[in-house]
Amino acid sequence: MATAPTSSSLNKSFDVLIIGSGAAGLTCALHLPDHLQVAVVSKGELAGGSTLYAQGGISAVLDQGDSLASHIADTLAAGDGLCCAKAVEFAVTEGPEAVRWLINQGVPFTSADNSQSQGLHLTREGGHSHRRVIHAEDRTGKAVETTLEALTRAASNIHVFEHHLAIDLIVDDNDIDNKCLGAWLLDRQSGVVTTVAANATVLACGGANMVYRYSSNPHSSTGDGIAMAWRAGCRIANMEFMQFHPTCLYHPSARGFLLTEAIRGEGGKLLLSNGQRFMDAYHPQAELAPRDIVARAIDAEMKKAGDEHIWLDISHRDADFIRSHFPGVYERCMELGLDMTKEPLPVVPAAHYTCGGVLTDLQGRTDLPQLYAIGETASTGLHGANRMASNSLLECIVYGRASAQDISRRPQQPLTQALPQWDDSRVTEEDEAVVVSHNWHELRKLMWDYVGIVRSNNRLERAQNRLALLHKEIEEYYASYHVSPDFIELRNLMQVADLIVKSATLRKESRGLHYNRDYPHKRDGARATVLTPPNSASYDNSPSW
Ligand code: FAD
Ligand code: SIN
Repeated sequence: MATAPTSSSLNKSFDVLIIGSGAAGLTCALHLPDHLQVAVVSKGELAGGSTLYAQGGISAVLDQGDSLASHIADTLAAGDGLCCAKAVEFAVTEGPEAVRWLINQGVPFTSADNSQSQGLHLTREGGHSHRRVIHAEDRTGKAVETTLEALTRAASNIHVFEHHLAIDLIVDDNDIDNKCLGAWLLDRQSGVVTTVAANATVLACGGANMVYRYSSNPHSSTGDGIAMAWRAGCRIANMEFMQFHPTCLYHPSARGFLLTEAIRGEGGKLLLSNGQRFMDAYHPQAELAPRDIVARAIDAEMKKAGDEHIWLDISHRDADFIRSHFPGVYERCMELGLDMTKEPLPVVPAAHYTCGGVLTDLQGRTDLPQLYAIGETASTGLHGANRMASNSLLECIVYGRASAQDISRRPQQPLTQALPQWDDSRVTEEDEAVVVSHNWHELRKLMWDYVGIVRSNNRLERAQNRLALLHKEIEEYYASYHVSPDFIELRNLMQVADLIVKSATLRKESRGLHYNRDYPHKRDGARATVLTPPNSASYDNSPSW
């Protein structure tokens, strides 16, 4: 928790404070009853997190030939022995209902003339043994996010705070049972800090993938939710499992632009520079093997050949099919002078998804009473050691709804307690912008170089040593009261990087997304990595899986 604030700032109170406005946060907000006053906070535009950029789709059992058992089995197989079985069963079973809710809200999913699949077009992605990914062309996230955004803006009980950055959670640590009382929010435009009190606070801040130099994510994925929860005393699980998406465009003007896995689902092949396929040598599902296997195979082939990228080719399919199924990718590539209907596209892996996060139960409850975590910020146990494609948006909707239902059932208490105010003098324009940007760059580079797709004991140790220095520098800087939005994000990234390296160091095996050359095999008895903060808030009903 932040050091004791002293001077006054604005005060507001709501029944529920939701920090984050992606699929998870907005789903939660829209499922809360009208009589609750809800604040939804975004550090950027309301529609701006990873959700907006999701391409492939949402997995759910919607086809008569498919089954819940098969979706569960595929998810468990991708998770490589570390999924929480009841979390998988819960998310998969709730999946069809979650998708129906989105359809009822007006999300324009791509249709197909097929009564087997309820008139919906279902695509395939890695790890799925059936077609079960519902999508809106290749702009699924945009369709979901903008539909939920419009409903949020229209709801009279939901109050939107855009361009407000949550700095830290406010924890009642005088109480015998610690609890979360709200958060401090920095208005990025005015610089004013608002102290927000709430009976329930929900962290829906997305992932931490900007901790790596190359990422498919928007700038917002700086791990703020995970870092704030850790500082507030919550346990964090499975942070070594950072997912690298195998196919991001390799182009100087669009590094990190995603080329959806659905391209491979519809027949796209991965090729070496000599035009040869290679994935069938690595896995029976070839291009549709789970992501960790594809990303590692690409990394190995690039290193073997000394190439800077490999190729993704779908040009053998009909040009109209390509243009109609992948209009977003097609248009962006054409802008860059690449015609995917005629030629292969250069691709590399990039950091994409944070499988670990704040440990929660099936309602999104964390270790700290009155604090919830949902979406990519959370570690519900659904993904284990590797997330299967399109299970993330599913998790956002299922847990967004489950957390709202749990909050609705709780008695609302009058918000009378005086909360500590933020010290305004800490938030100043006089920050050392250059130092912040250097540290930011150094951090992301060292994570890419030493804690990327392939790790080793030596690399992890180097990362730990360099992080220790950076950590010290950043904490000294923080203590000198000069903070800015960039600095707050850097501090959070630093915290998350430390959790990733600690978790990776503790895992003495290779499993799922975590590959350490010094321990290339799996060990018996798979266990989650759970880190406990020094000020642990764990109580009797803490989540456990
Ligand atoms: P986000 O959508 O990332 O939203 C986070 C929100 O938190 C934002 O509003 C942000 O402003 C806010 N925030 C963060 N920190 C703070 C703070 N300190 N204060 C205030 N606000 C804050 N998954 C799938 O299932 N299917 C796909 O097809 C798919 N495609 C993807 C394609 C791309 C390019 C990317 C990047 C991801 C994709 N994913 C996909 C993953 C999926 O999109 C994300 O996991 C999911 O959208 C995360 O949703 P979320 O609500 O948890 O967070
Ligand atoms: C993609 O479209 O390839 C991304 C899917 C996902 O990350 O779930």
